[in-house]
Amino acid sequence: MAYLALYRAWRPRTFEEVVGQESIVKALQNAVTDNKIAHAYLFSGPRGTGKTSMAKIIAKALNCEQPAAGEPCNQCSSCRDINQGSFMDVIEIDAASNRGIDEIRDLREKVRIAPAQGKTKVYIIDEVHMLTTEAFNALLKTIEEPPPAVVFILATTELQKIPATIRSRCQSFNFRRLTTEEIAERLQQVAGSQGIELEEAAGGLIARRANGGLRDALSILDQVQAYRGGRISKQDVIDTLGLVDDLFLAELVDAALKGDAGVLVEKLNQALMQGKEAGQIAREAGYYLRDLLLFSQLGKQAGLQIASQEALVYLEEQKKQVKTSQLIEALRIMMEAADRLRFSEGNKILLEIAFLQMANLFHFQKAKPAEEKPVQTSRSPRPGPDKKEREQGKDQLWTYLLAGVKEQKIPTHALLSQGKLLGLREDILYVGFRKGYKFHKERLEEKGNRDIVENVLKQILKREVKLELIFLDEEQHNDIIVRKAKELFGEDIVEIIE
Ligand SMILES: Nc1ncnc2c1ncn2[C@@H]1O[C@H](COP(=O)(O)OP(=O)(O)OP(=O)(O)O)[C@@H](O)[C@H]1O
Ligand SMILES: [Mg+2]
Ligand SMILES: [Zn+2]
Repeated sequence: MAYLALYRAWRPRTFEEVVGQESIVKALQNAVTDNKIAHAYLFSGPRGTGKTSMAKIIAKALNCEQPAAGEPCNQCSSCRDINQGSFMDVIEIDAASNRGIDEIRDLREKVRIAPAQGKTKVYIIDEVHMLTTEAFNALLKTIEEPPPAVVFILATTELQKIPATIRSRCQSFNFRRLTTEEIAERLQQVAGSQGIELEEAAGGLIARRANGGLRDALSILDQVQAYRGGRISKQDVIDTLGLVDDLFLAELVDAALKGDAGVLVEKLNQALMQGKEAGQIAREAGYYLRDLLLFSQLGKQAGLQIASQEALVYLEEQKKQVKTSQLIEALRIMMEAADRLRFSEGNKILLEIAFLQMANLFHFQKAKPAEEKPVQTSRSPRPGPDKKEREQGKDQLWTYLLAGVKEQKIPTHALLSQGKLLGLREDILYVGFRKGYKFHKERLEEKGNRDIVENVLKQILKREVKLELIFLDEEQHNDIIVRKAKELFGEDIVEIIE
C-alpha cells in the first residue's frame, strides 16, 4: 500500500477531533443538531488550520445515516464514501485549478437536481478567492436563490479577496492559527500512535516552525521521520530542515553584546563549515532578534517563533542590555543581509558584516544601565515594567497591529488608525476614539472589521484577544469601562484623551 502522508492520515473526522477552533466547532455542531444549517458558509483563515476538514465533517454530519449529537458516525456508507471522496452529493471544486468558470457553470446547471445518494448536497469550493469575476457572479446567483437541500461551503486563505456581495450572503467563520502548544500536543499524539518517539523539545521546535498550521507541522514530522526514523531529537529536526539552533543564535547575540568580533567570526565560520547557508543564518538570526524584541515587550506571553524554553534564560539577560530601537535596527540589518545573500550564495563577508554591524550597534552604543533602570512610580503598584517601558511596549504592539491590519485590509486600517491604543490587559485590548470619530468606532465594531483586528492580534500575541472599543467622549456610556481601564493601566495611560 502506498504511504499515506501523515497530514492526510490524520485529517480530523469528527467535530470532536478538530484541534482548536472551539467556537466554530460549537456553532456548527449546534447548527447540525438544531437543524439550523445555513445555505452558505465562508471559511477563512491561514493554511492548514482545518477549513477543508471542517467542511467535510459538516458534509458527513448532514448525510450520515446514523448521526449522534451532531457528529457523523464515520461507519455508514455515506460517511465512508465522503471520507474517500467518492460520494456523489459532496462536490469538491478547487477554484485554484482553472479559476472555476466551467465548474461553476456546471454547478449552476446541476445544483437544482435533487441529491442522488444522500440527504443534502454539499458543494465545497476551495481557494474560492481564485474564481474569476465571471465565476463569482455565477456563484452569487446560485447562492442568492439556493435550492433546498444544498449547502455551499466556500473556503479561502484570503478573505479580503472575496467580494462583499458574496460575503454578505454567507455565514462567515474565521479559522485561527493554532497555538504552539496545541500543535505540539497533536504532534505527540500522532507520533505516539505511529510509534514515533518524539522528544518534547523536537515537537516544540516543529510546532514553532509550523507557524500555526497543523498541516505544515505534520509534514515536517513526516519529513524528519523519513530521514531519521522512529526516534526524533531536536537536533534531528534542526539537521533535517537545515535550521540553526536557537541556543547557537543566542550565543551569537551574546557575542555581539560583548562586542566580541573574534568569537562572532569564529562561530559564523563554524556554522558555515557545518553546511549551513549564509542566507539562512542571517534569516534565523533575524527571527531570533524578533523573538527577543517581542520578549522584551511582552515577556513570556509573547509567541516566540524560534526561541525554545532553554533559550529563555538568554532572552531574559539580553533584553536588559539592548534598547528597542537597537533591536529594530539589528533586525533590519539581518533581514536585509538575508535578502542579499539569497542572490550571492556563500558570500561569507556579507554575513560577517551584518553580524559585526549588530555588534557595533549593541556593544559600542550601549545604553548605560543607570538610564534604563526601572523607576517604580506610586501609580504602578504592580511589580513589572515601568511607565516608560510600558509605553514602549504599547507603541510596539500598536505599530505591529496597524501594520498587520493594513496588510489584511486597508479600509479597516484606516478606521483603526484613528483610534488610540489604551492598553492590553489579559484578554482585552482597549482602543479609544475621540470626539468626531464615532463613525470610525461604529464601523470597527462590525464583525468583519473586528474579526480582522482580532485575528491580527491573535497572530501577534499567539492567543485570543478581544477588541474593546471605547468612546471616550460619551462619559455616561463608557464611564465604567474607562474607570476599569484606569484601574488596570493607571491614569497615565487612559488620560491620553484630552
Ligand atoms: N484544526 C485542525 N485539527 C486537526 N487537524 C488539522 C487541523 N487543521 C489542519 N489539520 C491537519 O492538516 C491537514 C490539512 O487540513 P485542512 O485541509 O483542513 O486545512 P485547510 O485549512 O483547508 O488548509 P488550506 O487553506 O491549505 O486548504 C488535515 O488533514 C489535518 O491533518
Ligand atoms: Mg483546504
Ligand atoms: Zn455515518
